[in-house]
Amino acid sequence: MRQAGRSLPEYRALRERHSILEMCRTPELATEVTLQPVRRLGVDAAILFSDIVVPLQGMGVDLDIEPGRGPVIAQPVRSSSDVARLTPLDPAGDAGYVLDAVKMLVSELDIPLIGFAGAPFTLASYLIEGGPSRDHARTKALMFSEPEVWGQLMQRLSDAVSVYLRAQVEAGASAIQLFDSWVGSLSPIDYELYVAPWVTSIFDGLDDLGISRIHFGVVTGELLQPMHATGCDVMGVDWRVPMDQARARLGEDVPLQGNLDPAILLAPWEVVAQRATDVLDRTGGQKHIFNLGHGVLPQTDPGQLARLVEHIHAFQP
Ligand code: CP3
Repeated sequence: MRQAGRSLPEYRALRERHSILEMCRTPELATEVTLQPVRRLGVDAAILFSDIVVPLQGMGVDLDIEPGRGPVIAQPVRSSSDVARLTPLDPAGDAGYVLDAVKMLVSELDIPLIGFAGAPFTLASYLIEGGPSRDHARTKALMFSEPEVWGQLMQRLSDAVSVYLRAQVEAGASAIQLFDSWVGSLSPIDYELYVAPWVTSIFDGLDDLGISRIHFGVVTGELLQPMHATGCDVMGVDWRVPMDQARARLGEDVPLQGNLDPAILLAPWEVVAQRATDVLDRTGGQKHIFNLGHGVLPQTDPGQLARLVEHIHAFQP
């Protein structure tokens, strides 16, 4: 349950004193905020506290994360020379604090730690737009009109993501998740042309590590098949596609992750319980990692989250 921390008073207390990026850059703080929801909720895995834009800083990008808005890039990337300024990522040298946090966490946790990275399209969108975007218009304009520059950018980003994910696994992460949060803005045809080759190379490059590779994006109902075909092991599903339909689209053998609408947690408990059971009924609890369909909303009552975890653990197919 990503961003579960945001709903916790102990997280907010730390946030009063530190920015998000400061917490990402300080292994002790990143470790503490990763552990906070684990202590409270009884979940079966932890997700590393960091952000998808952290490795971009290591590639020389000047950026910030604005509360309530998201990542903001000082000088957006819009030309071949902007792309050329992105330096290759050396995980140990440029993001060693992330690896230190992974190591600290692995020594403290008795459940698996999931490492993660943003996928090239989603990172490219932040770099090109300069911040969050509704329609990703500049991103798509560059992609359609300057495919060579697009290819150079995707190549640099996938090289960085590949070494970054490998380094997290070598530091002790048990699984990785690739977040292509905003790729649902593309058609399946354009996904195949402008995204799939690079994502495929990322998953291929992790093959020898023998860990589970989870792949997720929002509004990706029409992309579930091409996204899965890039070589991930588990397909994340947002709440817009019922799990039985996701299974029908991908086949019985593909493990799925998802997909309760995070907003349902704002309803009375009876509604949460009924909807969570419905999600489980649609997969029979088989080859299914129960999760929310996207991140926890900040106004969520942590008590509801803890109760949800208990409810899922009590499920009998
Ligand atoms: O779940 C976790 O807490 C683990 C750490 C984590 C963060 N960001 C910390 C964070 C993870 C896995 C991410 C991934 C991330 N970041 C994604 C991909 C996943 C997804 O949600 O689709 C994306 C697109 C981002 C970019 C980003 N960073 C956004 C959109 C925001 C939210 C802005 C807002 O306030 O609404 C952030 C900030 C951010 N990153 C927060 C956290 C816990 C909110 C922090 C706060 O306000 O204190």
